[in-house]
Amino acid sequence: MSLPPAFRNSTRPMPLSLLGHLAREFGAQVAQARLERYRHDPALFVQECIAWKPGEGPTPYQREILSALTQHRRVSVRGPHALGKTALAAWVVLWFAITCDGRDWKIATTASAWQQLVQFLWPEIHLWAARLRPEAIGRGALREGIELLDLSLKLRTG
Ligand SMILES: Nc1ncnc2c1ncn2[C@@H]1O[C@H](COP(=O)(O)OP(=O)(O)OP(=O)(O)O)[C@@H](O)[C@H]1O
Ligand SMILES: [Mg+2]
Repeated sequence: MSLPPAFRNSTRPMPLSLLGHLAREFGAQVAQARLERYRHDPALFVQECIAWKPGEGPTPYQREILSALTQHRRVSVRGPHALGKTALAAWVVLWFAITCDGRDWKIATTASAWQQLVQFLWPEIHLWAARLRPEAIGRGALREGIELLDLSLKLRTG
């Protein structure tokens, strides 16, 4: 962020419009730096970018799996019913999309049966997308039908 030449080394007061512009630019840079941090730390993204109710949050095993994502090329998980596997997959989709937007990104969501995607994974993505904290992700909520589509996300660059 830099001042326009006329205001460098100047003692003239800055117009409010310029101050507003600088504040917005500074805010955008802070948001970008924070997203960059989350891009390398999906567990932190889930902890800080989802509006958790008191006492809630990712479980230790969910955090461990999230951390493994940036340490290994492939991560495979299995576990008993209702452990939070689909929720975890939904967080991963949101983490990757939001922190990579602006770059060329793609996420393939797949399952052994189409119904798994329609009835479980994508509804779960919608559920958690609605709980993202705009102030943490540095952008407005994902809008149904615009960015958040039935079975896909449509952000700026992916
Ligand atoms: N850490 C969490 N905090 C709060 N709710 C959670 C958390 N993890 C998962 N959930 C919720 O718990 C419920 C069960 O989780 P989920 O559907 O992800 O389990 P699953 O392991 O995929 O189950 P299944 O074996 O039936 O596919 C869902 O409503 C999900 O949103
Ligand atoms: Mg599931």
